[in-house]
Amino acid sequence: MRNNELNLSTAEAVIRESSLTRRGILCGIAAISLGFIPEPAIAAKGVTILPSGKVEVLIASNPTLKKVGGLIQVDFTNGLSVAVVRISTAAKGFKVLNLACTHQGVPIKQTGNTWTCPAHNSQFSIDGKLKRGPATSALLEIPFKATTKSLVIG
Ligand code: FES
Repeated sequence: MRNNELNLSTAEAVIRESSLTRRGILCGIAAISLGFIPEPAIAAKGVTILPSGKVEVLIASNPTLKKVGGLIQVDFTNGLSVAVVRISTAAKGFKVLNLACTHQGVPIKQTGNTWTCPAHNSQFSIDGKLKRGPATSALLEIPFKATTKSLVIG
């Protein structure tokens, strides 16, 4: 898997499996606006770069994605990180978010039910909506296709 090219959104990245470490921070605070309690982000497992350059994430390898509020994080060697968030029980009930702040691109971090930017303290809901500036827009959503077995991102 190392050093394979990845065409994901606007960035080309190479996945670094060794960097897939737990980055989540304990949360436990209800996401009132979402109606669910998000779980701390867990490093993705079962990630494959397809010949097309898209990224496949197996749901069976990431059981947290089976329940609403579950989320995983996938990190790439170029600094791009994405979150997969389960927002409903529907087969396509996910959001795939670019975890770069929409203000100036700084990587954001999960703090409970919020993504927070360490640079200027912008905040986003766990499903990417803008909560507080200086950023002026929601997190960028990355297109995906979902089946009952996997998500194909990109
Ligand atoms: S870069 Fe995130 S708030 Fe400025």
